[in-house]
Amino acid sequence: MTADAPPQPQPTSEPELTPRPSLLPHPARVFVAGHRGLVGSAVARRLDADGHEVLTRGRDQLDLRDAARTESFLRDVRPDAVVLAAAKVGGIMANSTYPVQFLEDNLRIQLSVIAGAHTAEVPRLLFLGSSCIYPKLAEQPIREDSLLTGPLEPTNEAYAIAKIAGISQVQSYRRQYGAAYISAMPTNLYGPGDNFDLATSHVLPALIRRFHEARESGAPEVVLWGTGTPRREFLHVDDVAAACALLLQRYDDEGPVNIGCGEDLPIRELAELVREVTGYQGEIVWDTTKPDGTPRKLLDVSRLTALGFKPSVDLRDGIASTYKWWLAQH
Ligand SMILES: NC(=O)c1ccc[n+]([C@@H]2O[C@H](COP(=O)([O-])OP(=O)(O)OC[C@H]3O[C@@H](n4cnc5c(N)ncnc54)[C@H](OP(=O)(O)O)[C@@H]3O)[C@@H](O)[C@H]2O)c1
Repeated sequence: MTADAPPQPQPTSEPELTPRPSLLPHPARVFVAGHRGLVGSAVARRLDADGHEVLTRGRDQLDLRDAARTESFLRDVRPDAVVLAAAKVGGIMANSTYPVQFLEDNLRIQLSVIAGAHTAEVPRLLFLGSSCIYPKLAEQPIREDSLLTGPLEPTNEAYAIAKIAGISQVQSYRRQYGAAYISAMPTNLYGPGDNFDLATSHVLPALIRRFHEARESGAPEVVLWGTGTPRREFLHVDDVAAACALLLQRYDDEGPVNIGCGEDLPIRELAELVREVTGYQGEIVWDTTKPDGTPRKLLDVSRLTALGFKPSVDLRDGIASTYKWWLAQH
């Protein structure tokens, strides 16, 4: 090459000779807000297994809607990072019955924790949004940049608006103060710690419970809503926890990061899987007079995949271990 030749582009597929430094010290002191919940408990288990010190406070000790007490707690403990997995969460029924609580509790928790973390000079924060806050008719698979590009699903609009405000809050702290705060958007999750109360649960634990109870009572059929054709994506909480740990170490940018497995299946197939796992022998009847909901919900996970994430829990195995966990609870 001559002295004035233009620089040659470097191949991008070369393995990195030195690993990038982690954005999280090791061991770190991490406050997991909502550590008794589905996501928070999995994140706490994962960080603990990775050798970090996990700090927790139950809602009985610290109501995170209380901004003054939350700030004072964060100032006292001065964690290296906060994972905000505390939220008021529920299914369609709860969301449409209590929109005030879904809006106000979530706004207040986010204001307390994110602003409190900044005031207490916590250097790193991961806020959990959700795939259900993307526009109702977002193009599939859903990319992160489709946020705020269309109308929301009306049944959980209050919840979604609160969560979108949280994402904007995180981005605003980045822009105004240079804070290394980030957001993630998990898909439908399931696993140990899930909510099996049929009035407030999501589809997978509801199916587990219904097939289990039908088997116990010898019911000849289980009636499910809709046609069973809508497609949904499911990720085990241990995988979401692994993704959260990875994001804390590797991701420092403004856009949220989708957390999913990148694959979906029809609800009909999911129901068959759950039926097999629970050992129910009866029929599944689809009540097609009931609404189906969005035909497809799948996240584009290329941003997360580019960071090196690969889910590790197979859906059938994950359903089986979640069923086992639930049986052990009662
Ligand atoms: N589950 C999913 O499929 C899913 C999917 C995508 C995104 N996410 C996101 O992940 C986050 C956590 O969801 P999750 O499913 O783990 O919910 P969850 O199981 O209901 O857990 C929420 C946790 O937040 C705590 N909490 C609620 N209000 C509080 C308050 N005022 N003060 C202190 N703690 C409070 C709860 O405490 P108690 O135990 O005392 O009630 C609970 O431990 C949410 O942001 C949600 O949007 C979840």
